[in-house]
Amino acid sequence: MKIGIIGAGQLGLMLGEAAKKLNYECIFLDPNKNSPAKKIGKVINQEFSDIEGIRRLDSLTDVITYEFENVPVESINTLNPNTVFPSSKALEIAQDRLKEKQLFDSLNIPVAKYMSVTTKSDLLDAKSSLGFPFILKTRRFGYDGKGQSFINDEKSLNEILINYEEMDLIAEKKIDFNYEISAIGARNKRGESIFYPLTHNTHKNGILRTSRTINVDESISKQAFSYLSDLLSKLDYVGVIALELFVKNDHVIANEYAPRVHNSGHWTIEGAKTSQFENHLRAILNMKLGDTSENGFIGMENLIGTIPSDIQQLKEDFFLHDYGKTERPGRKLGHISVIGEDKEEREEKLRVIQKIISN
Ligand SMILES: Nc1ncnc2c1ncn2[C@@H]1O[C@H](COP(=O)(O)OP(=O)(O)O)[C@@H](O)[C@H]1O
Ligand SMILES: [Mg+2]
Repeated sequence: MKIGIIGAGQLGLMLGEAAKKLNYECIFLDPNKNSPAKKIGKVINQEFSDIEGIRRLDSLTDVITYEFENVPVESINTLNPNTVFPSSKALEIAQDRLKEKQLFDSLNIPVAKYMSVTTKSDLLDAKSSLGFPFILKTRRFGYDGKGQSFINDEKSLNEILINYEEMDLIAEKKIDFNYEISAIGARNKRGESIFYPLTHNTHKNGILRTSRTINVDESISKQAFSYLSDLLSKLDYVGVIALELFVKNDHVIANEYAPRVHNSGHWTIEGAKTSQFENHLRAILNMKLGDTSENGFIGMENLIGTIPSDIQQLKEDFFLHDYGKTERPGRKLGHISVIGEDKEEREEKLRVIQKIISN
């Protein structure tokens, strides 16, 4: 049994490492000749939109998955739907923020008030119906906060209007949330599902910086897991999914979902009995899903833009993952996970990392 993975970035690499543990071989597809997953398996260097490349991957493997959500749906649709997971439907909806919000609506999952925006006049309508502040996001291809503008007042609205070119956007009311969490789960082909402990996420400049396991009130976790579970059933989902949520007072509001393993779940490699990567593979291979419980109080810090040399000096209870990518501002180059016996120990370890990063 061979597993095909579309995308050979760090998520592909970590999927490949999990596959190795399960004694499966992965073959990747990625136009980048220097991709992180190169060190774990063969990479077919062709464009994601190149049907020849997809066919080649298909001919060499038994089951196919993907590690990022901008894989062209047309490429996925050339494959036998019984061999590619998550489904093209789950992918297609996740690629379009408007469709995603409409899906949440149909499941009665609360979302920020939103409007579809294409023309200048739509934008003015968004202002009157949402009120300031709101966020304008491209419907497609946004990640790490890219393709987003915060419209706080008339001045910022006018700046956008001056050079406005029509395109498919979504305007969302800015939620004054208390904090952000993600709910990560997996569902296998038999419809069995599992959920990881909730993760608290903090961002800087739109990019995830720190994730920690978090204990929330039961009413919050109930909402989060019931929304996630409704999403899994509705999509007849197979694989790992991550649902990003805002918590405001006693309410949970959905932001977006990722039909793949997620950065806020990297802590599961050392911090959970079974990692999100292994459970993703277990799900698509229709195996029994593994125990998701955590091994203590877990934290994860992303290494963005640069990996300071002092980071390499940290001892072995700092679990460093260097993706082997070249340094570039804003680029995710690696992460470090830590486990504490209690919250204080975890926070102390995170502070050690943060101090090195900020120097
Ligand atoms: N409606 C909103 N209200 C408040 N903050 C938001 C809203 N939408 C996005 N954000 C902030 O921007 C971050 C990135 O937005 P998101 O929609 O998750 O896009 P991306 O695909 O870039 O992750 C979120 O994690 C959150 O911090
Ligand atoms: Mg997001």
